[in-house]
Amino acid sequence: MKLFDVYPLNNITINRAQGSYVWDSNGVQYLDMYGGHAVISIGHTHPHWVKRIQVQLEKIAFYSNSIIIPLQQELADKLGLISGKTDYQLFLCNSGAEANENALKLASFHTGRKKVIAFTKSFHGRTSLAVAATDNPAIVAPVNQTDNIIFLPFNDEAALDACFKAHGSEIAAVIIEGIQGVGGIVPATIPFLKLIRSLCDQYGSVYIADSVQCGYGRTGQFFAHDIAEVNADIYSMAKGMGNGFPIGGILIAPHIQSKHGMLGTTFGGNRLACAAALAVLEVMEEENLMSMAKQRGMYLMNQLKAIEGIENVRGRGLMIGFDVPENLKGLKKLLLEQYNIFTGEAKPNVIRLLPSLALSRKQADEFLETLKEAILEIQTNAE
Ligand SMILES: Cc1ncc(COP(=O)(O)O)c(C=O)c1O
Repeated sequence: MKLFDVYPLNNITINRAQGSYVWDSNGVQYLDMYGGHAVISIGHTHPHWVKRIQVQLEKIAFYSNSIIIPLQQELADKLGLISGKTDYQLFLCNSGAEANENALKLASFHTGRKKVIAFTKSFHGRTSLAVAATDNPAIVAPVNQTDNIIFLPFNDEAALDACFKAHGSEIAAVIIEGIQGVGGIVPATIPFLKLIRSLCDQYGSVYIADSVQCGYGRTGQFFAHDIAEVNADIYSMAKGMGNGFPIGGILIAPHIQSKHGMLGTTFGGNRLACAAALAVLEVMEEENLMSMAKQRGMYLMNQLKAIEGIENVRGRGLMIGFDVPENLKGLKKLLLEQYNIFTGEAKPNVIRLLPSLALSRKQADEFLETLKEAILEIQTNAE
C-alpha cells in the first residue's frame, strides 16, 4: 500500500532525538530550530517526560471517559495555576483543529448564534469549522464552505467595530491567534485584542484565543494573548502541550456552562496524554522554561536584527520570524541540507523559528553563527 501523498517531504529519516538535537539514520546531527512545528516544548525525549509516560503505560494506557480519570483533574489544577486561569474549566481533546472545532461549537451552543469572525491570513486547523475559519481557500473543501464565517482584515479596529455594529447580535465568536504562525509570525496588536474583548462583552459574543501555536509558554507568557491584559472566554491549546504526545484542549471561562453530552471524544484526556501533559508542565516549572523562552527569544531577536541580509525580524519569546529577500532565496534549504539545521517557513518568504523552550544559549549561538555562514555562502556564490 502507498502512503497518501499529501506532504512535500525532505529526504531525511530522523530516528533519534534529545533536547534540541535530532539525528538521522546516518548518524548525522541536526539542530532543531523548528521543534517539529512548535510541538517540542521541553526538549525531545526529556527524561522526566519519558519516565512519566512509561510509568503510566505500565499501569493502564486507556479507559474511556465514562469513568473518573484523576489525572485529568490533576492536569486541570496544574494548568489553572501555571496559566493563572484557576477559575476556568478544561475540556481535553487530541489536536489543535479539534480544540478550535470544539471552541467554535461551544461558542455557538452558548450564544445560540451562528456567525464567527475570523481574520485574514489566519490558520485554525483542517476540520470543518476550523478550516472554514482558516484564510486559505486551497484547503477548504466544498462541503466546508459556509456563509457563517466573516473574514476581516487582521488588526483593523475600524473594520471590526463596523462589523459588530452591523451584525453584532448574530456574532457567536471572534477567533484569533495571539501571534499568527502560518500567516508569517504576525502579532495581534494590544489595542486590537482589547477591542475584541470589549465588543464581545458589549454584544454577548465569545472571544476565542487560538493559542495552539503561540501558547503554552512559548512567548514567555503562558498565552500570547495575555499581553493585552484581558481574558479570552476560551483558549485553545495543543502542540507544545504534550511535547509530541498528541493532546489538545480548551480552557473555558466560568460563565460558560457545560451540559452532559454537549462535547465529547473517545481518546481526549486519555491517561497517557495526561501523563505527558503533566510532565510538560512539571518540567516547565522545574526548569523555569517560560522565563528562559523570554530571555532566549530576546537574545536571538537582538542578534538576528544585527545580521545583514535578512529583514523584518519579529516575534516574541521563541516564536520568531524574519523575511528572506529574493537574493537569499534557498536559505532555508541550505540551512537544512548543508548546515544540518531545521527551521520552519511561512509562505512566501518567511523563516519561522519555533525551537524548544529549553534551547540553550550555546545552541542559539550555534544557530546564529551558522546562519551568518550560510548567508555569506549564498552571497559569495552570487558574485
Ligand atoms: C494557530 C493554529 N491553530 C490550529 C492549528 C491546528 O493544529 P493541528 O495540526 O494539531 O490540528 C495549528 C497548526 O499548525 C495552528 O498553527
